[in-house]
Amino acid sequence: MEVNISDLTWVPFIYPRGGKSERTINAYVEALAIGAQFPPIKIQRVFNYAEGDQTTDLPAGRHGATIILDGIHRWFAFKESGIKKIPAVEWKDKPLDYEKNKTALLLEGAKCNISHGDRLNPGDKKRIARDIASTDPECTWTEEALAEKLGVIRQTVNTWISDIRARQRAGRDVIVIRLSWLGWTQEQIAQTIGTSQGRVAQIINNANFGEINNLLSQGRDMDYIAGHYHMDLALVWALRLEGKTDQEKFKELGWGLRTWDQWNFNECDERFGDDWPGRIPAQLIAHTLFYFTKPGDLILDPMAGGGIVPDVCLLFERKCQAFDLAVRDNRSEILCHHWDTRNWKWPITKKPDLIFFDPPYYIKKEKAYREKANENTPSISSYTKEEYERFLKGFFLLAHKNAKPTTSMAFLNADWRDFESTPASKEKPDKSITIFDYHRLLSKTGWEVTHRIECPLSSERLSGNQVQRMQDKRILGTVGRTLLIAKRS
Ligand SMILES: C[S@@+](CC[C@H](N)C(=O)[O-])C[C@H]1O[C@@H](n2cnc3c(N)ncnc32)[C@H](O)[C@@H]1O
Repeated sequence: MEVNISDLTWVPFIYPRGGKSERTINAYVEALAIGAQFPPIKIQRVFNYAEGDQTTDLPAGRHGATIILDGIHRWFAFKESGIKKIPAVEWKDKPLDYEKNKTALLLEGAKCNISHGDRLNPGDKKRIARDIASTDPECTWTEEALAEKLGVIRQTVNTWISDIRARQRAGRDVIVIRLSWLGWTQEQIAQTIGTSQGRVAQIINNANFGEINNLLSQGRDMDYIAGHYHMDLALVWALRLEGKTDQEKFKELGWGLRTWDQWNFNECDERFGDDWPGRIPAQLIAHTLFYFTKPGDLILDPMAGGGIVPDVCLLFERKCQAFDLAVRDNRSEILCHHWDTRNWKWPITKKPDLIFFDPPYYIKKEKAYREKANENTPSISSYTKEEYERFLKGFFLLAHKNAKPTTSMAFLNADWRDFESTPASKEKPDKSITIFDYHRLLSKTGWEVTHRIECPLSSERLSGNQVQRMQDKRILGTVGRTLLIAKRS
């Protein structure tokens, strides 16, 4: 069959690669110009797809679309060549519920891409396997099923996702140990997991993970040990590193210790924290803890996202209280709390030694955070510039009121400039928020900035073509990210 190019939708979640290849598209455009024939693309009609249209052949109110499972490069090439119709085959002959089938759709797309076209590279496959595992706590997708779809052996899938699965399978005892290491009282733990305080005490007293060193000396790796104990990797590492100095821990984790105030970490260390929009590298937090806290100190993470701060606190034997408006079953240590300008509440009684505050960078990733939030508890990334500044001012004041004289604030943020399609010289400064504004807000609310540490993002996320387009238009991007350390003044 042939379908209209304009009726098809490209859903980035279903597309199995990190990015599309302009080189492949250009090659296809050239081939089309000399009359080459291409095999049909693979498509699927879906309903219950939030960004789709209300099509007539679907039950009323069910937003639908025809999405591309395989053949994105051919689709772009046909579009660029001005061709209106493209040969296509349907995967299933009936429309599917998008929300219920999105993992199956992603895997079908991946399966098509392992045998032809720009084949998926191991990094793409690993990303898909990890994305699926983290959104599938019931383990509906077995390692065998993922291996078959991704065209790799089961053992490979196992090394990619064993830490995620171990965390998902973590039993109650492991949760108790984790929370107790993070400084929760037995009473708080008992309340959270729904058991008696006596039972919590018993679990803590009987915990015995002495075998870890034996397993290591037998050549077992940390992933194996995490699976063996049904534990997340952060806790296994914390147990392995217990009692060592901070510097020894950096060494064992394979992290070089930065001596100067420029902290470049290109990649997030996948052993720690969950995949999360705006996830930050574990090393950035480890350095903050190294320079500005000591073992046993209490760290507050008001917007904990994927849980990287609690994980690093476990490793470095700091206590931690973490909150976010979005919480998950596999992260009992992150409690639900919505910071709200209309109703400020401070959720902890003990005063923290350090507040590690990593809020959304103004409206960057607005859509991703909106999906995690809901109408009554909106993310601050949906605020106007004025509301966002008012929020931060209110938060800094509240934190100041509830801090000790010695409490530090580690505030991470980036310049936000409206540079998307605007040449640098035409940007409107009234639309931007920069580190100078954050500095001003901290100073006004009783915090004195003592350090400014640059922790830039990697610029490699952009393709050569995107960079070329920016250069052609004289657009000046931003990869800066700054950590401000402040003390109560
Ligand atoms: C930049 S992310 C934190 C990322 C985290 N440090 C990590 O590496 O995974 C910011 C977080 O703030 C949360 N958030 C935004 N507005 C909030 C609010 N008003 N109250 C509580 N959490 C909020 C979002 O849900 C998001 O998880």
